Amino acid sequence: MKIFNTKQEIKRYLSAQKKENKTIGFVPTMGALHKGHLSLIKKAAKKNELVVVSIFVNPTQFDNNEDLIKYPKSIEIDTHLLESVSCDVLFIPSVKEIYENNISSEKFDFEGLEHQMEGKYRKEHFNGVGTIVKTLFEIVAPNKAYFGQKDFQQLQIIKKMVKKHRLNIKIKGCRIYREEDGLAMSSRNIRLSKEHRAAAPFIYKTLKKVRKNYTPDNITKLTDWVNNQFKKHPLLDLEYFTIAEEKTLETPKSKESNKKNRAFIAVFAGNIRLIDNIRLKND
Ligand code: PAF
Repeated sequence: MKIFNTKQEIKRYLSAQKKENKTIGFVPTMGALHKGHLSLIKKAAKKNELVVVSIFVNPTQFDNNEDLIKYPKSIEIDTHLLESVSCDVLFIPSVKEIYENNISSEKFDFEGLEHQMEGKYRKEHFNGVGTIVKTLFEIVAPNKAYFGQKDFQQLQIIKKMVKKHRLNIKIKGCRIYREEDGLAMSSRNIRLSKEHRAAAPFIYKTLKKVRKNYTPDNITKLTDWVNNQFKKHPLLDLEYFTIAEEKTLETPKSKESNKKNRAFIAVFAGNIRLIDNIRLKND
C-alpha cells in the first residue's frame, strides 16, 4: 500500500496509473475505521483496479468543536486494517495541505436537501461535507466513489453535487453495517459509556418496529409513538425522528405508495450523537 500526504504526490502517482487505463474506486473516510468502512473498501476492490482511501478529519463539517477535538483517531490501527484489505493507496493529508490558510467551506445549493433533518440541527455541516468531498474528488478523480447509507442524507447530497457539477464519478451507496445487537456501526460508538452502549440498540429496535407498523397513512401516529418511546427512555434523548421520501428527503405529502420512503432518526446517548435510518416497505 502506498501512502501519500500531499496533493502533488498522490496526483502524480494516480495520473501515471490512469495512463495505464486503471479504474479507480475511492472511499473517503475520517478514519477510526470499522467493518462498515472495510466493506466499502472490499466493494471498491471488486469493481475497480485501484482502490484509494483517504483519512481526513474535516474541520469544516463539525458544528461542535468538542466533537471535532474528541473525534477518534487511530491512524496506526487504520493503516494495518487497510493493509489487510485490498487498499492500494492511502491519502492522509494535513488540514494545511487541504485548506492552506483558509479553513472555510464553499457555499452549496443542494436544491433543498441540505435544509432537511441533519441540516436543521448541524448548521454548515453539508457545506463542509460538500467542500471536502469536492476537493478530494478533484485530487483523486475516481471513476467510482463509495459511501455508507447510514449517512443517507450525505449520500443524496453528494449524488446531487456530482450531478450539478457534472462530475464524471459514479456514486455508490452501500448498506448499513450493524453490530450484532443492531447498533449501526460508527466511529463515534467507541466514545459511548458502557451504559449508553448497552442502551443504544434501542434505536434500531425502534426503527424496526416503525418498519413493521408503517403504512403511508399512519406517519403522524408513528412519529408520535417514537417520540413517546424516547420520552420514557432514561438514557437516550431523541433529537429528531422523521419519515421522508428518499429522493427529496421531504415528508411524503400524499398517501401515494409508489415513492420510496425511509425513517430517519438522530439520538443523543449522553453527549454522543448517533444517527440511523431504515427503508420502509411500499405497500
Ligand atoms: O462520512 C464521512 O466519513 C465524512 O462525512 C466524509 C464523507 C469522509 C467527508 O469528510
